[in-house]
Amino acid sequence: MTTETVFGHVRTGYAVVTTRDMDNWKRFGAEAIGLHMDVHSPELVTFRVDDWARRVIVRKGETEDYAALGLEVTSRAALDEILQRLRGRGVAITEQAGGEAAIRGVPQFWSFSGPKRQQIELFETAETTPAPLKMKFAGFLTGEAGLCHVAITSKAPDEMLAFWQEIFDARLSDRIEEKISGINLLITFLRMNERHHSIAVARTKGLKLDPIPSRIQHMAFQVSELEDLSRAYERCRKMGYKIAMSVGQHTNDREISFYVYTPSGFEFEIGWNPLIVDEESWDPNAVHQGISVWGHKPVDHTWADDLRQFRTGVASFFRHEYRPF
Ligand SMILES: [Fe+2]
Repeated sequence: MTTETVFGHVRTGYAVVTTRDMDNWKRFGAEAIGLHMDVHSPELVTFRVDDWARRVIVRKGETEDYAALGLEVTSRAALDEILQRLRGRGVAITEQAGGEAAIRGVPQFWSFSGPKRQQIELFETAETTPAPLKMKFAGFLTGEAGLCHVAITSKAPDEMLAFWQEIFDARLSDRIEEKISGINLLITFLRMNERHHSIAVARTKGLKLDPIPSRIQHMAFQVSELEDLSRAYERCRKMGYKIAMSVGQHTNDREISFYVYTPSGFEFEIGWNPLIVDEESWDPNAVHQGISVWGHKPVDHTWADDLRQFRTGVASFFRHEYRPF
């Protein structure tokens, strides 16, 4: 390929989630969060937020998991370059079409095991639909910035950051130092396009622990109207879904957001109005103190959650974190 960088050619596209409790995910996705829902079978439900036919794919399974992160690659040259980089490092890639692709609303995809055994799936085009959206939001910001961002905890953070930087030409946006549940964290924010971050990697400072059992810590969508965010927050609270953090504003991208626990254990962040990175003037060396300017208080987080996280963290100390190369 003649393109020197794939930066700007990669966007988050879809998420595949597995759950034991489909009814709870339907209630959570359609009624509490308020996304457009399509029920295909007792084993398959998908959610829309824009003209894409499928953005969140929830499948019945034996585990609660963030099963796959779909990344849209906007040109064949960039896709070839990424596949070549992976193969050059000995990463096994599976090309899939047919039924599994149809479930994701794409004609074909290339999958591989990324850091922490997160399945990553690359695709070039996705099915869209003219069918009207029935959701509790005026709209979500997707387009050039992609669907979402994901935050991942890691006890091999340097290798994880190198993975995103070497394979996807991800750029450093900034970092945040924070203390959560008694644990000192350093969070590094990487962008792959105009979105301030598509990937955030959190590490513990000092002892290398991973306090989060799921592959991702949270996934975040961006709404176009602030009022829709506060209404979603109220719906989640009224329907009894645990709020991980109340409404607040982040220090680095200035986004206003809240966090709710999904039925699969990882958190879902609904955000509004983060700043957009200007490639000409952006300073990547900023280290912000604390994740929030205001708010983001733990609401339904208890001492039992702290203890569970501490236990998981201690257990992770003895576990090797998978690295693809
Ligand atoms: Fe976030």
